[in-house]
Amino acid sequence: MFESLSAASADAILGLIAEHKNDPRPEKIDLGVGVYRSAAGDTPILDVVKKAEQLLLDTQVSKAYIGTAGAADFNAAMQALTFGDSSTEERLSTIQTPGGSGSLRVAAGLILRASPGATVWTSEPTWANHIPLLGGAGLALQSYPYYDAENHVIKIDAMLDTLRSAAAGDIVLLHACCHNPSGLDPSVDEWGAISDIIAERDLVPFIDMAYQGFAADLDTDAYAIRHMAQRVPEMIVATSCSKNFGLYRDRVGTLSILSADSKASDIVNSQVNNVVRTIYSVPPDHGAAVVGLILGNDELRGAWLNELTEMRDRLRHMRVLLNDELVAKAPDYNFSHLVRATGMFCFLGVTAAQVARLKKDFGIYMVDSGRINIAGITPDNVSYLAASIAATLQAG
Ligand code: LMR
Repeated sequence: MFESLSAASADAILGLIAEHKNDPRPEKIDLGVGVYRSAAGDTPILDVVKKAEQLLLDTQVSKAYIGTAGAADFNAAMQALTFGDSSTEERLSTIQTPGGSGSLRVAAGLILRASPGATVWTSEPTWANHIPLLGGAGLALQSYPYYDAENHVIKIDAMLDTLRSAAAGDIVLLHACCHNPSGLDPSVDEWGAISDIIAERDLVPFIDMAYQGFAADLDTDAYAIRHMAQRVPEMIVATSCSKNFGLYRDRVGTLSILSADSKASDIVNSQVNNVVRTIYSVPPDHGAAVVGLILGNDELRGAWLNELTEMRDRLRHMRVLLNDELVAKAPDYNFSHLVRATGMFCFLGVTAAQVARLKKDFGIYMVDSGRINIAGITPDNVSYLAASIAATLQAG
């Protein structure tokens, strides 16, 4: 049977991890996969996570299954973190999922059951795995314009025009904050215009929040979700704790569904849990138990906020540093969008051929689109990075 298969191509983002690892050049820089790195270039376990893990080790009494929805205390704490004051709505329900990807996959299963003919609209561009993940699950996808690569701004008018042409019941996938890959998010006014169209045209917002706390702060970063929750009867929200708790490999996330009323919410909840059972049966426990402990304890929560702030501040500082270096080394080019963007990513503004040259000549790794992970920049490598970018741009 397997002879009918040919090899699948390497994942555009994950494939770079091995390529960078195997490069013997000491000056190499990894701006590929979106994991946070400290100024020393590593991805340490947060101190607060270590503390909570120790607590868990000392107190956890069973590894029995926790059920399709995961742990109730984790779900309640995450729902409050995501929805703020509206988190107690009776028409809102939240389950624990294996990361943001697991959440997206369960959401896809739910959409297919509830509205098999609906189109899901995604930003152009969007996270490279949105399309295969949601499309592979069987959803029909179309894109709306988002990033203006020439001027490094959001194409808000074109985006709104396209959403106006969506059919009632269609679903609009949005990034709550730190848009991946562009790093550019709508302003409060622009979110207002987006939600106007979504409400007027009976569209369903599907918001992916993988970077809460990486742009401004936990509440500001959840603005789009909380605003939209006031305006629409139904909404889907996927969250991830990979980045803000540094729990990447432990797979921690949530799926929240806002339904028209509490009766509909009960039905949706039963369907969501049934979808889970047919995919991975029950979610993994460890990382979510750690997050549950942190969010439920004032001291641990405070320590987490400090570490989150440190990560966010470091990213911001690296954006400024790289921009300053590029202003000095490549004065003919404008990189001001580096500091207008937030979170882990933005586009450098180079061609695929220049991406290949940066890798071959300088050992600098980024995805073909020219998206860079700011966390790969350190005070030690920024000068080499800027000089390499300048040399590559000047070579044409
Ligand atoms: C990224 O965009 O690099 C991250 O979200 C990691 C991933 O799984 O792609």
